[in-house]
Amino acid sequence: MKVLLATKNKGKIKEMNALFRDLKIEFIGLDSIKEPPDVIEDGKTYHDNALKKAMTFYRIALIPTLAEDSGLEVDALNGAPGVFSARIAGEGASDREKIKKLLELLRDVPDEKRTARFVSVLCLVLDGKPYFFEGHVRGHLLRKPSGESGFGYDPIFVPEGYKKSFAALGPKTKNRISHRARAIEKLKEFLKERLARQ
Ligand code: IMP
Repeated sequence: MKVLLATKNKGKIKEMNALFRDLKIEFIGLDSIKEPPDVIEDGKTYHDNALKKAMTFYRIALIPTLAEDSGLEVDALNGAPGVFSARIAGEGASDREKIKKLLELLRDVPDEKRTARFVSVLCLVLDGKPYFFEGHVRGHLLRKPSGESGFGYDPIFVPEGYKKSFAALGPKTKNRISHRARAIEKLKEFLKERLARQ
């Protein structure tokens, strides 16, 4: 089965193909579409944004299409930045600028109150119908970045049960326990069942 992944990120496509090889599912990216439109992620929820992206490209390609929306929810900020995680420091800000902004907002928050969770929502559009898969990972936020791997808020997020940030733990550990890994696990179960029925 071929699935369109609503991303231009070659790394993400490669990662998904490795994760799904045993199921004979091949992910292709948006560069397989001529002039893919930009989808503005202006939804109030991860589900809205993931659905908008997946449905937009499904209608163009007419093959199973998968999109993701994700974010970081900080308890001391009542769940912010959440769906605005990519834009906390303005459109086009670098990961460093985003981390700096978040750490400023949390400057006076004591260690025991620096809890947060990452959320990932996947939307798969199959035969015109959307199916959602959600994953979470809880943890706490450091006062300064540590570690080199990953992206986004990885250098300041320490998952529950660990002492190092996602960026210091490295991709092997992160890809086993992350919000995205958990959402993908659910998607995989769903596709396994679907393929068995065909
Ligand atoms: P979007 O899903 O592309 O809208 O972006 C969500 C934003 O949340 C990203 O730009 C990152 O800042 C943050 N984020 C989501 N998942 C992760 C992760 O696995 N590690 C670090 N930051 C993440």
